Amino acid sequence: MNSGVVAKAKRRGAEPSDRPALLLDWYDRHRRRLPWRPPAGERADPYRVWLSEIMLQQTGVKTVGPYFEKFLARWPDVAALGSASQDDVLRMWAGLGYYSRARNLHACAVAVLREHGGVFPDTEQGLRALPGIGPYTAAAIAAIAFDVRTMPVDGNIERVVSRLYAVEEPLPQAKPLIGELASTLLDPSRAGDEKSRAGDEKSRAGDSAQALMDLGSSICTPKKPACALCPLNEDCVARARGDQEAFPRKAPKKTGTLRRGAAFIVTRGEQLLVRTRVEKGLLGGMTEVPGSEWLAGQDDKTALKQAPVLKGVTRWHRKAGVVTHVFTHFPLELVIYTADVAARTRPPEGMRWVPIATLADEALPNVMRKAIAHGLGL
Ligand code: ADE
Repeated sequence: MNSGVVAKAKRRGAEPSDRPALLLDWYDRHRRRLPWRPPAGERADPYRVWLSEIMLQQTGVKTVGPYFEKFLARWPDVAALGSASQDDVLRMWAGLGYYSRARNLHACAVAVLREHGGVFPDTEQGLRALPGIGPYTAAAIAAIAFDVRTMPVDGNIERVVSRLYAVEEPLPQAKPLIGELASTLLDPSRAGDEKSRAGDEKSRAGDSAQALMDLGSSICTPKKPACALCPLNEDCVARARGDQEAFPRKAPKKTGTLRRGAAFIVTRGEQLLVRTRVEKGLLGGMTEVPGSEWLAGQDDKTALKQAPVLKGVTRWHRKAGVVTHVFTHFPLELVIYTADVAARTRPPEGMRWVPIATLADEALPNVMRKAIAHGLGL
């Protein structure tokens, strides 16, 4: 459907056939050293590629690095991760956010172990059938780990490509067009459409994709791109026009309505009252302090009425200020109440006491870390 636009975009600038080679040549000289990448020319381990790609969904390379190393040290292969408990995986994941990713990560390891004999499928279609693997992640794993000639398109690649071709259509509508244009940056001189077989020359699709990712993160940055250092600068339509920073064009963002709630920080000496969220939905299965519902129209009085009932607690101390957190679909404002109860006070049904000193071992989402820190004055 976009073939006319693609052809027109490709005709602009230098010969399109130069770009794939320029890109790979740049990658060979400037690729980032990342913990999941093997040395140049060596085969990537599908387990590492998969683990890193799941962690990198919605989270930056800097944050992911230490988590990746921790996971790999504890679970060095998919069989080890598939044999771990979901609780241990959630605990290790705490802080990375978007916890459904951790549940899917574990479910995927279990599926690879039980249904595929511990070997990852090597096609996009096979990978997509696994939990937590969508079209982007399937393409990334297929290209990087199995040299399948396909182009995963992440935010960095969207930016590079939308500038290179000055794509006027805003995101997210422009995704299919950007995907087509990005695929023209795969090296046409290498391997056919199918996965390269042993003995064939490699397609280097994973390197082409990672070259674009690295270019987007180090040179073609959202603000003040370092165009003088870019291997594709002579071809870049946006650069020629001088409006690189205006790309990618974006449709106005919907941020979601502010929701409000209360969180109750109850201490019993050196212990804190917590509970586990229901398995399904937002932050499912994670640890939290008791709290009210999070609602758009929530007023303080209604929220306070949802406080846990504890022997000896007749008054709650309201901490000054609020804790704010931004989820994907809505921002949240939490009012924090505190109370200290006598030794041996029983926890309300479904709640438990945990030592404050071992809170780091709990699967605590960031919003709860903030609420606890505020309530305890940390
Ligand atoms: N973001 C997602 N996957 C990546 C990769 N393989 N290298 C760098 N950044 C990435």
